[in-house]
Amino acid sequence: MLADKDRIFTNVYGFQPWNLPAAQKRGDWDNTKKLLERGQEAIIEEIKDSGLRGRGGAGFPTGLKWSFMPKESKDGRPSFLVINADESEPGSCKDREIIRHDPHKLIEGALVAGFAMRARAAYIYIRGEYIREAETLQAAVDEAYDAGLIGKNASGSGYDFDVFMHRGAGAYICGEETAMIESLEGKKGQPRLKPPFPAGAGLYGCPTTVNNVESIAVVPTILRRGASWFNSFGRENNKGTKLFQISGHVERPCVVEEAMSIPFKELIEKHCGGITGGWDNLLAVIPGGSSVPLVPAKEIMDAPMDFDGLRELGSGLGTAAVIVMDKSTDIVGAISRLSYFYKHESCGQCTPCREGTGWMWRMMERLRTGDAAIEEIDMLQQVTKQVEGHTICALGDAAAWPIQGLIRHFRPELERRIHEHNAKFQEAAE
Ligand code: NAI
Ligand code: SF4
Repeated sequence: MLADKDRIFTNVYGFQPWNLPAAQKRGDWDNTKKLLERGQEAIIEEIKDSGLRGRGGAGFPTGLKWSFMPKESKDGRPSFLVINADESEPGSCKDREIIRHDPHKLIEGALVAGFAMRARAAYIYIRGEYIREAETLQAAVDEAYDAGLIGKNASGSGYDFDVFMHRGAGAYICGEETAMIESLEGKKGQPRLKPPFPAGAGLYGCPTTVNNVESIAVVPTILRRGASWFNSFGRENNKGTKLFQISGHVERPCVVEEAMSIPFKELIEKHCGGITGGWDNLLAVIPGGSSVPLVPAKEIMDAPMDFDGLRELGSGLGTAAVIVMDKSTDIVGAISRLSYFYKHESCGQCTPCREGTGWMWRMMERLRTGDAAIEEIDMLQQVTKQVEGHTICALGDAAAWPIQGLIRHFRPELERRIHEHNAKFQEAAE
């Protein structure tokens, strides 16, 4: 288990105030100028050495992403950092806790990361439903300005750096980085085709890096404690500490910081008091938020909770939003509900996603009640294959994968429902 001294988020439960004096007592904003004096290249190298991979779900190496930003401004164009606080993945709630209880980690991280990539300002895009969190964040930003930590000559470094908060309006798709950029520009939040990636053409056409809240909030601590401290946790290619968000059928749902690669069973035993009704009662787990396929109980028990370990099981770490389902769960109903979510949140600009998400949801509903033909299971699988990889953004994949996982692991349950429904129908007809 991760020792208390190795936790980055020491106020994640809000036992202490979030404000600047309390944050400074916890070590935030401690001689930030000295961190910046290391210089842009040294900061980027340290983050690369730490092995930090993006905490928003995709796991792209953070230092590498920063290195794509231009070293010189072209035509006087500024560069920007956009921080993705539009946390909307069903099951995910870690960024909310950071913003609620430790907003200064994020703001200091914005300055350090922004400086490293030569950004003029950071835009923090926070989901519309996070009303109280947005109030806290804005108050923390104001405190940082008043104390001279950001703004002109930020933290006495000679570097000018602004932080702006922008509130979303409740659209899941605005969490996709290019849709977020469109939304910040005042347009309808629809993803752009990539490439160009944002480092080439991002906000207002300027070089931009989009990073998740957790990815940015851990940066000052990594620099203070060193890359080798951070990469001493986890295993090759899966380094550091990580906020896990565990919900569903466990005794004590929680958000907890743990070492990357902790085995699933240990994570649940140590922090959640086990599965409701005992381990024999576990049915399946969605280990990384709703966009990744479920894993059945027998396969996940000893799995390392990291990018590679869960990929080998045909799933993913995603945002590390661990949704636990016991045997009382209507597993077909649960995946059908997710299908409805993706149908509702599709922005509609590409045909396979716009039409496919509705089609998949309608088929899932028929399978939920059993009012379907056996052949429809394979037909549904084919539809998911027509959507997967044929869309502008990852929402299409995210809609297809949970269904593929269900068919892969729970086909007998789908067939049972159809046979049962048909038998009842037959009985009524006779
Ligand atoms: P992606 O793999 O397309 O990109 C990840 C990041 O790496 C992006 O910032 C992208 O610009 C950068 N990147 C990738 N390839 C690059 C290249 N060749 N050159 C330069 N930069 C490159 O994944 P995406 O669509 O950004 O995120 C998908 C993930 O987001 C899903 O796996 C899901 O887990 C997660 N997600 C998280 C949500 C949340 O609430 N936190 C909501 C929905 C999805
Ligand atoms: Fe919009 Fe779906 Fe296409 Fe993404 S995949 S751009 S959400 S229609």
